[in-house]
Amino acid sequence: MAIEDLMSGGTVLPITRWGTAVMHEKTEPITVFDDELRDLVRDMFATMRAAQGVGLAATQVSRGLSLFVYECPDADERVRYGAFCNPVVGTPTGKDRQLDKIEEGCLSFPGGYQPLARPDRAVCTGQDPWGDEITVEGTGLLARCLQHETDHLNGIVFGDRLSSRSYRKLEEQKDSLAHLYPDDWPVTAKRATAARVEA
Ligand code: NI
Repeated sequence: MAIEDLMSGGTVLPITRWGTAVMHEKTEPITVFDDELRDLVRDMFATMRAAQGVGLAATQVSRGLSLFVYECPDADERVRYGAFCNPVVGTPTGKDRQLDKIEEGCLSFPGGYQPLARPDRAVCTGQDPWGDEITVEGTGLLARCLQHETDHLNGIVFGDRLSSRSYRKLEEQKDSLAHLYPDDWPVTAKRATAARVEA
C-alpha cells in the first residue's frame, strides 16, 4: 500500500475552528502505525480536498495527534503530497535564511488572509503512516505549508504570529465571510457567494 491509496475513499469531517482547546495545545506523538491511523489519514485527505486546502493537521479534525497531511505546490509549481507523523521542521539559519512575506490563511479560520513573513525553505522530517522515516525539503508555498502544519501540532496557529493590528484585520475578514461557511464545513459545502441575496 502506498500513500496514494490513502488519498481517496475517506470520509469528509467537519473542520475545527480556532478557539477550540485542541487547536491550542501541544499534540501527542504517534507511536502506533496501524490501520486506524491510516483510516484517519484517509479521512484527513478527504477533508482537506473538500475544503480545497493545501494542508490539514489532525487538530483541525479535533484529534490531538502529531499528524498532518499536505498536497501543495512547491516553488517550481510541482504539487507534492504526503502525510507526516511526528514532524520536526527546520529552517535555514545565518545568511541562507531568506524570508518570504506573502498572504497566509488557515482552514480553521476560513476567509481570513494576512501577510506573514516565514523562511522560504523548510526541511521536514518524521514518519509516514507506516512508521518509515521520511524527509521532505519544501520551497515556495510548500515551505510555508510545512511550517504552518507543524505549528498546528505544537498548538500554534498563524494568528499567534501576527501583530495585533494584523490579527484584527484577519478577524474582520473572517467575520465578513463567516456566513459562507456552515458550522460543519466542509461536510456541508461552502455557500456560493451568489446565493446571498441582498435586497
Ligand atoms: Ni491552518
